[in-house]
Amino acid sequence: MEPDLHELLRSLRVWDPAVTDLPPLDPDAAPAEPLPLFARWLAEAAVAGQAEPHTMSLATADAEGLPDVRIVMLHGADEKGWSFATHAHSRKGGHLAGRPYAALAFYWPVLGRQVRVRGPVGVAPAEEAQADLHARSTGALAAALTGRQSEVLASPEELAHASEAAWQQARRAPDTPAPSWTLYRLRPDEVEFFQGNSDRRHIRLRYRRGPEAWTRDLLWP
Ligand SMILES: Cc1cc2nc3c(=O)[nH]c(=O)nc-3n(C[C@H](O)[C@H](O)[C@H](O)COP(=O)(O)O)c2cc1C
Repeated sequence: MEPDLHELLRSLRVWDPAVTDLPPLDPDAAPAEPLPLFARWLAEAAVAGQAEPHTMSLATADAEGLPDVRIVMLHGADEKGWSFATHAHSRKGGHLAGRPYAALAFYWPVLGRQVRVRGPVGVAPAEEAQADLHARSTGALAAALTGRQSEVLASPEELAHASEAAWQQARRAPDTPAPSWTLYRLRPDEVEFFQGNSDRRHIRLRYRRGPEAWTRDLLWP
């Protein structure tokens, strides 16, 4: 018998002190800019054993403004922005071409932390995208070379065939370009850090980019 979905949902917990470590966040001690705090939180998530802490939800919107979201990997975060890579012809690539603005969300449940980032998205030069790809694993190149992301797939065999050819190519020539593979950079207008608290007095610290400097606000949880 299938388990009852709603019973299961009612039995599940977040911010359970038995499994989640909830460190304090002192807003007065937070840095003037969001990047150093993000770098620290990512490192702390990795050290705390958070699986795949460098994965994030990427939200985009289509021409009508209808949203979509999916997981991608973070490739870097510096003064140029938070970067990720994908195919320009994928659904998200089409969204970003028409409406170059996106939002990211990281969730690191082992520390009860969430980070939200939103801002305009630019495309890095093609050489940077290819260099970034070639510095990654053979599997990453094979996946990029398999191509046709977000198109309808006729059969699993079709994928197996294309993927096998892509793996062979990636092993034989690790510098093969994947022309549609694109590196995007989101330059944040806003970054919000959420620290969960077992008494539900969660701390939300929002940074907003100003003309000269970032402003910081606390938000009601
Ligand atoms: C853990 C994880 C990491 C992923 N990383 C990427 C990525 O870095 N780039 C990418 O194009 N797709 C990545 N994907 C696949 C995307 O979630 C998505 O299925 C794909 O990009 C197609 O999305 P779209 O049709 O909205 O364009 C990842 C999926 C998972 C579950």
